[in-house]
Amino acid sequence: MELPFAESYKIKMVEQIHPSTREDRERWIREARYNLFNLKSNQVFIDLLTDSGTGAMSDKQWSEMMIGDESYAGASSYFKLKDAISNITGFPYFLPTHQGRAAENVLFSALIKEGDFVPGNAHFDTTKGHIEFRKATAVDCTIDEAYDTFVYHPFKGNVDLGKLEEAILKYTPSKIPALVITITCNTSGGQPVSMENLRQTYHLAKKYDIPVVFDSARFAENAYFIKMREPGYQDKSIREIVAEMFSYADIMTMSSKKDAIVNMGGFIAMRSEELYRKATVFNIVFEGYITYGGMSGRDMNALAQGLYEGTEFDYLDTRIKQVAYLGTRLKEYGVEIQEPFGGHAIFVNAGSMMKHIPKDQFQAQTLAIELYLESGVRGVEIGTLLADRDPVTRENRYPKLELLRLAIPRRVYTNNHMDYIAVALGNVAARKNSITKGFRILREAPIMRHFTVELERV
Ligand code: F0G
Repeated sequence: MELPFAESYKIKMVEQIHPSTREDRERWIREARYNLFNLKSNQVFIDLLTDSGTGAMSDKQWSEMMIGDESYAGASSYFKLKDAISNITGFPYFLPTHQGRAAENVLFSALIKEGDFVPGNAHFDTTKGHIEFRKATAVDCTIDEAYDTFVYHPFKGNVDLGKLEEAILKYTPSKIPALVITITCNTSGGQPVSMENLRQTYHLAKKYDIPVVFDSARFAENAYFIKMREPGYQDKSIREIVAEMFSYADIMTMSSKKDAIVNMGGFIAMRSEELYRKATVFNIVFEGYITYGGMSGRDMNALAQGLYEGTEFDYLDTRIKQVAYLGTRLKEYGVEIQEPFGGHAIFVNAGSMMKHIPKDQFQAQTLAIELYLESGVRGVEIGTLLADRDPVTRENRYPKLELLRLAIPRRVYTNNHMDYIAVALGNVAARKNSITKGFRILREAPIMRHFTVELERV
């Protein structure tokens, strides 16, 4: 008999989580004004709000915490992290930041000016936010297949090279300070970008002398998908694949809270000494001195160790197979989800599942609340609430996809938890037609409304 799959680690420390009754949850979610961000963590049983900063560090990472060097300048922890980054990515220069959006803030301060255009695959919200904050424009050049959840494509994060070249010619290279390629692409559902696409995108960028930035939060998961799905990479190690991936970039921003398996942290790395010098000034102003930039020494140590662990095949295999396990179980229960499964999350097609509810009553939010009421599982709406209003007309912006994201923290939950989630959502799917009403907005902020919005039942 073939041996079944088992996790590549065992558990050394546990944390209590909190089951609750449906009655409790009815009250809590009402008090939270039907916004899942307003719940207290002990009102949640299984928390799939995000995979960012919610992973479990290893025994080796915790021991690195004990030997962190907290010197203001020249700490050994800084050099340990610098070595890890250059070993894994090949970039000689780096600046630590407190998280991913801080890396974007520092880098874009050095790179982007008013009136610029920044094409790429679909940019993450904070990336787009930092571009628009500088009165520049993010241009989405993702392949069309990304927006059809029922179509199979092994690399739905890919850039459409035709759209990209069109954008470069339309906006002219002098107005394009960089391309930003997000690996894996969170916005299109944790979908990977192929090595061939990275290579071709890089060559196109070089033709017009435009630097390429990788938004690298989930770069290791991207490498895993290349190994599993792209011809010619089966026999290469994750580290070899990662090294080749970064050879097609000039700069990277990193939210270390994902694939580097730490609870807080980020960095920028690059090949150009000139850009490094320019960005250093902004890093010192916004984040901290060059050799700590918003991180403590102990955190830089844990991050260095996390980068090595996060690029090990066995760890990634456990991780991605757990996400796929949840996807497979959900399909068995008739839940409509995006395929192929993403690296860090399962995306439920709430728009199709809840199509009997009007769009302006927030289909994905309605599903997220029903899942919470059913089971205490907290997912997150990636739909109309998140897409917010058009800045000019103030009308709701209806996105191409109305999704419920179930993001899986790294090394935290077991497959029993995955079974629990699958049954819970299966139960909701089975009674979906009895859910006939959604929600209306009581109060919302002028931007980023989803974090603080207050809702009531229609
Ligand atoms: N880039 C990507 C692709 C991300 O997914 C995120 C964060 C960031 C940048 C920003 O990094 O949070 O460290 O400042 N994504 C989280 C999520 C918040 O839930 O997907 P950060």
